[in-house]
Amino acid sequence: MSVLRGRAPVSRRLPDFPWDTLLDAKERAAAHPGGIVDLSVGTPVDPVDPLIRDALSAASDFPGYPTTIGTPEVRRAAIDALQRRFGIDGLDLSMILPVIGTKEAIAGLPSTLGLGVGDQVVIPEVAYPTYEVGALLAGADVLRADSLTQIGPAAPAMIYLNSPSNPTGKVLPVEHLRKVVSWARERGTVVVSDECYLGLAWDDEPVSILDPRVADGDNTGLLAVHSLSKTSNLASYRAGFLAGDPALIGELLAVRKHAGMIVPFPIQAAMAAALGDDGHASIQRERYRRRREILRDAVIGAGFRIDESAAGLYLWVTRDEPCRETVAWLSDRGILAAPGDFYGPRGVRHVRMALTATDERIAQAASRLAS
Ligand SMILES: Cc1ncc(COP(=O)(O)O)c(C=O)c1O
Repeated sequence: MSVLRGRAPVSRRLPDFPWDTLLDAKERAAAHPGGIVDLSVGTPVDPVDPLIRDALSAASDFPGYPTTIGTPEVRRAAIDALQRRFGIDGLDLSMILPVIGTKEAIAGLPSTLGLGVGDQVVIPEVAYPTYEVGALLAGADVLRADSLTQIGPAAPAMIYLNSPSNPTGKVLPVEHLRKVVSWARERGTVVVSDECYLGLAWDDEPVSILDPRVADGDNTGLLAVHSLSKTSNLASYRAGFLAGDPALIGELLAVRKHAGMIVPFPIQAAMAAALGDDGHASIQRERYRRRREILRDAVIGAGFRIDESAAGLYLWVTRDEPCRETVAWLSDRGILAAPGDFYGPRGVRHVRMALTATDERIAQAASRLAS
């Protein structure tokens, strides 16, 4: 590529875009006479609550630039929601930063905090791919580890937690989170806890890294990542926020201001409305609960085993065979699942099934699995 004047393209540092490898299975599933049931992506399909849409449209006549730090209203709404929904106390306006969906924040976090060559970023063994991408973009090294003993004497610059996990639905107990926090404090490691699915609890109660039982009221070195995509059906709005250590939030703000990483003003207003209302989030959670029960029973009835999956938006499913064989078996029945190898080498014998399909499609999947 001559325009790069011999420099190695940045994209070469990154893994292949995994979804391209699913195209054949998708075509096969789409050929089913009853149409595809696409459970491969966690993209919401239910309506955006009118309360949120009204807030968006009421804020649409605003010609000026919004601020990177966000309006006091959206930050206050985030603080109150974290308090009401998850029992997180003691946050103030300097501890919240809105982001343009959490994927961009995660992809940019290591670079924005100045990590680079020689730094280590620890991510879960089976993980949302963007943790690795963010580290690689910064030139940092990635270590996949679920336990602190796997990390040994190293002092990583950053460690990611994700409870409930995408893709496994695993929930980390308070004691584990406490251990990670005290371990990280001894080493000066930043703990980034991706809490995208914290509001979707089924068989276990997930806990925030900022929970007083974990952080003891001290947010130093801790960042919680919260997305409105799943709990409020706002994936298309690109709406999320970071919460935690005011020094880290301040540094991220200082850089993001220069880079113009600003959440659009009407979206900030919509976020404030969504964060201020728990009713729509609990209606949505109940939809997912019902779909999960139907799909869980159907999957087990078809001879699969479900591992982990105590919370979150996915079932982590296996037939004790290579995941691509399971994907093929399902696609012959018109069902598309995500192969576990998307999420790391330890995922090779599982597939991930999302609960984000309509009631009608979930019922279709269940009846196909039964026959
Ligand atoms: C674990 C996890 N974190 C972050 C995200 C990104 O969400 P968004 O960019 O929509 O906020 C996702 C999306 O699927 C996810 O699964």
